[in-house]
Amino acid sequence: MASTRGFASDNYAGVNPAVMQSMVEVNHGHVSAYGDDPETAKFQGVVQDLFGPQAMGFPVFNGTGANVIALQAATKRWEAVICVDSAHIHSDEGGAPEKMAGLKLWTVPSPDGKLTVELLKTQLFDFGFVHRSQPAVVSITQTTEMGTLYTPEEIRALADVAHEHNLLLHMDGARLSNAAAALGLPFADFTTKVGVDLVSLGGTKIGALAAEAVIVMDSTSERGRELADAMPYLRKTSMQLASKMRFVSAQLNALFGDSAKLALESARVANSMAQRLYKGVLEIAAEHSEVTMPNPAQANAVFPILPADVTERVQQDYWFYVWNHQTGQVRLMCSWDTSEDDVDGLLASIRAALAAR
Ligand SMILES: Cc1ncc(COP(=O)(O)O)c(C=O)c1O
Repeated sequence: MASTRGFASDNYAGVNPAVMQSMVEVNHGHVSAYGDDPETAKFQGVVQDLFGPQAMGFPVFNGTGANVIALQAATKRWEAVICVDSAHIHSDEGGAPEKMAGLKLWTVPSPDGKLTVELLKTQLFDFGFVHRSQPAVVSITQTTEMGTLYTPEEIRALADVAHEHNLLLHMDGARLSNAAAALGLPFADFTTKVGVDLVSLGGTKIGALAAEAVIVMDSTSERGRELADAMPYLRKTSMQLASKMRFVSAQLNALFGDSAKLALESARVANSMAQRLYKGVLEIAAEHSEVTMPNPAQANAVFPILPADVTERVQQDYWFYVWNHQTGQVRLMCSWDTSEDDVDGLLASIRAALAAR
């Protein structure tokens, strides 16, 4: 029987008590609904503090919704999004971008989950050719779905190429706090300041109950104004407009207020537990050639390749997902409440499964 504590997803963790408390604290009296409330107004200040004075934030319920709204705002009916094949928008949103927003996704293969300028350029052709869905947005994920991390320089290079071709750069930041903690940089340094136009800011994985936001980095530029003007309507028609928004905004304020203190503290725990796990699996791999580690663990996820029978045995102790059934690569996610005991227990379980073969 698998332990209830597992490594399947950072969403398996509960709500951070401070986030829960923030909802209790705003749970009194009547306030205006649909975002016209003091907590949501406060969130705008939080967004500007983190992303710069021109930024605007739009709270939503979940990450898929944030991505679909952001991408919809940035594209016309005949336009398309470029992303890597492992992007959440392509592989894990049940086709929501296609179904809800009618979006065409042009994907490129990337073993480590990162888009590069070279890979991006393979999709930059046939502009003005009526038979091809026209690329309008580049979407990257920070940290990536493969546990890797973009440097600010890499993001700047992608933004420059995107902008040269009149494309916007969207960042799926479901794990933006893990990225900030891993880079040791303020959020703006690897978003606003390096040419990102739109961010889906994640709260849930780092301790919220259900709270994410779409951020428009420069709502004063002509294009940014258009994006910001579209956002309320797209959020409503995409069923992401919370009537009791004060509770969504309170969660975001608890995590990202005070220069994202709580989100960063939580991300540091998740990242450091992933480092402990990564080192432990590398030690095992040094003794067992059938265990390998194709990608570095740069944030809160570790992606080793394990023999299938070992995976099956360990899954009886700790639940996690097989990421690639062909190679046997598995995904081990650490969350804000992963403990050293959890990690050491998983490592012991892998060692035991290998010894029992
Ligand atoms: C990279 C990434 N983007 C977006 C999401 C948003 O997902 P959800 O709609 O489940 O909140 C996730 C969740 O797994 C994710 O990993």
